Amino acid sequence: MNQEMKQYLSPVWTHLTEILVERGEGIYLYDTNGKSYMDFTSGIGVTSTGHCHPKVVEAIREQAGQLIFGQLNTVYHKPLFELIGQLRRVVPPELDRFFLANSGAEAVEGAVKLAKQATGRTNIVVFQGSFHGRTHLTMAMTTSKTVYRTRYQPLVAGIFVAPYPYAYRYGWDEETTLAFSIEELKRLLKSQSAPDETACIIVEPVLGEGGYVVPPSGFLKALREICDQHGVLLIADEIQSGFGRTGRYFAVQHEEIVPDIMVMAKGIASGVPISCIAYRGKLDDRWLRGSHGGTFGGNALACAAAAATIRVIRGEKLAENAAVRGKQLLNGLRRLQKDCRRLGDVRGLGLMAAAEFSQNGKPDEEAAKTVSRAAAEQGLLLLTCGTYGNVVRWIPPLIVTEEQIGEALRLFASALKRLY
Ligand SMILES: Cc1ncc(COP(=O)(O)O)c(C=O)c1O
Repeated sequence: MNQEMKQYLSPVWTHLTEILVERGEGIYLYDTNGKSYMDFTSGIGVTSTGHCHPKVVEAIREQAGQLIFGQLNTVYHKPLFELIGQLRRVVPPELDRFFLANSGAEAVEGAVKLAKQATGRTNIVVFQGSFHGRTHLTMAMTTSKTVYRTRYQPLVAGIFVAPYPYAYRYGWDEETTLAFSIEELKRLLKSQSAPDETACIIVEPVLGEGGYVVPPSGFLKALREICDQHGVLLIADEIQSGFGRTGRYFAVQHEEIVPDIMVMAKGIASGVPISCIAYRGKLDDRWLRGSHGGTFGGNALACAAAAATIRVIRGEKLAENAAVRGKQLLNGLRRLQKDCRRLGDVRGLGLMAAAEFSQNGKPDEEAAKTVSRAAAEQGLLLLTCGTYGNVVRWIPPLIVTEEQIGEALRLFASALKRLY
């Protein structure tokens, strides 16, 4: 591989490491020297079934030899219907219409377009710390860090920001935080975006890029009630939290609420780009035919990979594994927290876990960076997140075993020693 070519890459990309990866298998990545790394980033939550799961690889190989692309405005194809069949088994049954696209941001854009046409209203409510993508609309809906919007102004108008119930950051208990967030949302609907102008409220059921925050129980139910009261559509952005990640197929299922629209991507196809909008069929007649679409969405190869991924998630009970391994991970991190004053908070749901670093009550980005760098040197890849970059996020493939979590915790414990 010619490293000289690196100079021609756009520097707009940031890079966690300089690893030149050659292949992946299960939870491991291997570089060109054969060195292995535990990939606890899952490519930012994508490789849910691990790298190159044999059943997914087989499905892609077989499909590539049959039909790579069948354009959906032009024809139908078999993998499309296989995928819809698999989605029907895991997506809440009330969401009985599906639209396919290629990336998370594209799905969010489509969901908002649907909400606007279906309600005839213009405004969108998002939450503080949200990440919904990097396109022109979705960056305006993203409030996790200014870097995603700086010098791209003016942004799309009509987007209003309500507080996410982030108890640790506010320094309050969960009940107080929940009451505050809901009250502020109601105030926003009174003071800034009138309900009859508000098309949708879009929420990450577990906040992702904004810090891996699990909201207090009752939050999603309260949003559902507010939406029902005002005819506002509730959109769940399950792009990072979906497909078994949190121990259920979708994070909204922990609170047993059903959104009106749900967007999915990342873990849906083990790495082949595809995303999906699921919505209530009653919205159909208000989404004008031909007013949304795209060339590549629902291509045969990606559909085959997604159908195989969902089959693996169901067949190997990976959501159940995420729940059990997630508990092991949180218990292990909490044990380590006892000996590390700068590790201020440990939280998570399933295999979406956070270790937040603070010092003197202030976000400690340096600690998160030092620890994630030290972990990478020892062969454990971990990403950071949060507005202040002070959260180490744990997002391993859902196939991770007890031994592998144990090994990752040992490496993390050793990385934490760099702080002293
Ligand atoms: C919750 C959430 N929504 C949307 C997106 C955007 O997805 P994509 O990068 O595929 O456009 C992401 C990506 O990190 C995400 O985590």
